[in-house]
Amino acid sequence: MGSELFDIPGKVALVTGGTRGLGEVAAVAMAKAGAAVAVCGRSQPDLERVVRRITNMGGKAQGFFLDVLDRSKVNKTVADILDHFGQIDILVNNAGVNYRVPLLDFPEKEWDLIIDTNLKGYFLMAQAVVPGMLAHGYGKVINMSSVLGAVGLPMMAAYASSKGGVDQLTKVMALEWAKQGVRVNAIGPTYFETELVAQVRDDAERFNFINDRTPMGRWGHPSELEGIVIFLAAPASDFITGQTVYIDGGWTAW
Ligand SMILES: NC(=O)c1ccc[n+]([C@@H]2O[C@H](COP(=O)([O-])OP(=O)(O)OC[C@H]3O[C@@H](n4cnc5c(N)ncnc54)[C@H](OP(=O)(O)O)[C@@H]3O)[C@@H](O)[C@H]2O)c1
Repeated sequence: MGSELFDIPGKVALVTGGTRGLGEVAAVAMAKAGAAVAVCGRSQPDLERVVRRITNMGGKAQGFFLDVLDRSKVNKTVADILDHFGQIDILVNNAGVNYRVPLLDFPEKEWDLIIDTNLKGYFLMAQAVVPGMLAHGYGKVINMSSVLGAVGLPMMAAYASSKGGVDQLTKVMALEWAKQGVRVNAIGPTYFETELVAQVRDDAERFNFINDRTPMGRWGHPSELEGIVIFLAAPASDFITGQTVYIDGGWTAW
């Protein structure tokens, strides 16, 4: 039996923050499913490493410098990717940052950085990439959200606000482009071991709180993200749009 439902050969996937963590998992997943990958990030050594990882697997990839905070750089990088690959069929909005302090101590500068990266960055990327998808009548946008788009945790004021915003942005994007072949969905991961959550991983009390809060009793393994990214990028999910799919060991089922 073939697996065309989950194959995306001939497609081009752009992954922001593809240089490590869950973005690297998403970039590799896109290549495993057959897409050419525009790996985007700000660290040249990491760009080269992820591109090498994909090409060593027999996949096709090219690295591009991208800072999602700057509209003119976003537009320039997207133009460079279109010059290189000719099209962008799949946009994985993944670049994200966090800062953990109680709300009354939250520095305005960190608030702005989190909202500008995690929420406005997705909007800027969509404005740059989606017109090309609409012109082709096909596209998949995958926005990396979080369980914190749906539930709150202390010290996560800006991050949870940004992810709640991503879930709403996902719905609006989906509604605006539904009739033109562009599907938009979000992924809501629980805690997965990456640099972003290293502080939490190293704090036994917080690490165990996450385990206790999760019906399956553990954090996610980064490789467990692959399946959902492939599903949302592939024909198997063609009649799904505007949804946030939680990959959280049951956390949001409470
Ligand atoms: N890990 C988790 O437990 C978890 C749970 C739920 C949701 N998420 C979400 O998953 C996504 C990836 O998180 P992660 O855990 O993989 O984090 P990570 O390991 O810290 O990686 C974050 C990525 O975002 C990039 N990035 C940050 N600011 C950027 C900017 N201004 N422009 C371009 N790229 C930028 C980083 O690139 P540089 O190397 O250049 O900084 C890096 O590639 C985020 O949206 C996060 O909120 C993660």
